[in-house]
Amino acid sequence: MNPRSRAGGPAQTLRLVAVAGARPNFMKIAPLLRELGERSRFEVSLVHTGQHYDEAMSEGFFRELGIRPPDVNLGVGSGSHAAMTAQVLEGMEPLLLEREPAALLVVGDVNSTLAAALAAAKLHIPVAHVEAGLRSFDRRMPEEINRILTDALSDWLFVTEPSGEENLLREGIDPKRIHRVGNVMIDTLLAHAERARERDTLERLGLVAGEYAALTLHRPSNVDEPAQLLQLFAVFEEIHREIPLVFPAHPRTTAAIEEKLGGRAPQVQLIPPLLYLDFLRLMMDARFVLTDSGGIQEETTVLGVPCLTLRENTERPITVSQGSNRIVGRDPAAIRRAVRQILDGPVEPARIPELWDGRAAKRIVDVLERDLARRAALRPDGA
Ligand code: UD1
Repeated sequence: MNPRSRAGGPAQTLRLVAVAGARPNFMKIAPLLRELGERSRFEVSLVHTGQHYDEAMSEGFFRELGIRPPDVNLGVGSGSHAAMTAQVLEGMEPLLLEREPAALLVVGDVNSTLAAALAAAKLHIPVAHVEAGLRSFDRRMPEEINRILTDALSDWLFVTEPSGEENLLREGIDPKRIHRVGNVMIDTLLAHAERARERDTLERLGLVAGEYAALTLHRPSNVDEPAQLLQLFAVFEEIHREIPLVFPAHPRTTAAIEEKLGGRAPQVQLIPPLLYLDFLRLMMDARFVLTDSGGIQEETTVLGVPCLTLRENTERPITVSQGSNRIVGRDPAAIRRAVRQILDGPVEPARIPELWDGRAAKRIVDVLERDLARRAALRPDGA
């Protein structure tokens, strides 16, 4: 049954297919699904590509973030970039043909994001990309290729920070397609901060608020090369001798320790991956965070926790210019110096970027509803 439109006629249902595939997608899709679910015009099919599949990398996040079970799971699993991309493409095509959505909604920059966008664009289904426009200008990063190509295929480009707009305009994207709306990952953080604060994460890990540091590391450029990994481990061990360093390790990193280093793990507090609420709790009260993740640079900015990014660049420059992030690279001396500065204090206060206010999903769905309703009104079948 269709709700009535303001004009009195039947308002057409707006069908969407939303895609999530890997861990960082889940925090981004959650607020969008919630907002879409509150508007009766939308009928949303949720597709999980299966790029991440473990309880610790996937199901646990669905549960904690209150994401409904996916309507379809493509079950692509792990594999080479080509194999993964090809399987998502193959899986998406019949599904899109069958559902005939008015648009495809994708988030972030993982392989699933690009593959789903490509399948839709080839079928002339318009694509909405949330977290568009970010650029590290480093094409050795698989995500950079995914970002550039997904943006080139998208009809709506929802950006989180001014650099995103600038990058897209420079690439010749029509300004009418670009919408700066804020950050859906921060919507999720703000929605869950209170629940996270109630967790007993620190007690369980034997930590005291403000007296430990947290570490994540999973980028191929950091973990796939044994010499690089060993050099980083030596610095982590030095830091751990000064302040407890907790390291929830990504499966890629655990595999590298086993397969490439013969089980030589760093002498820090190494633990399995944490789910969302426990990791948020861990970040909140950390003295500082060391990471090579993209999202964590943004989350620490909003939490006002110093972040040292173990990469040569960032696609999220606002976390440096306004937030609490510093790009320290992989040079042991530079990492040591940056840690020393934080431990000796004082730390410069961070500002929260404009529009990172918990309302990004609402802004995105407002734009989609307006544009899709307009398009539907022009089509006699209302699809
Ligand atoms: C992917 C994303 C990256 C994101 C990261 C977060 C791409 C190109 N990269 O990288 O942007 O920051 O997710 O986690 O899409 N594995 C498991 N269980 C799982 C999933 C993976 O054990 O549920 C293991 C497999 O051995 C797999 C490896 O982790 O080979 C890497 O997974 P993959 O999806 O290829 O890339 P990520 O490094 O996770």
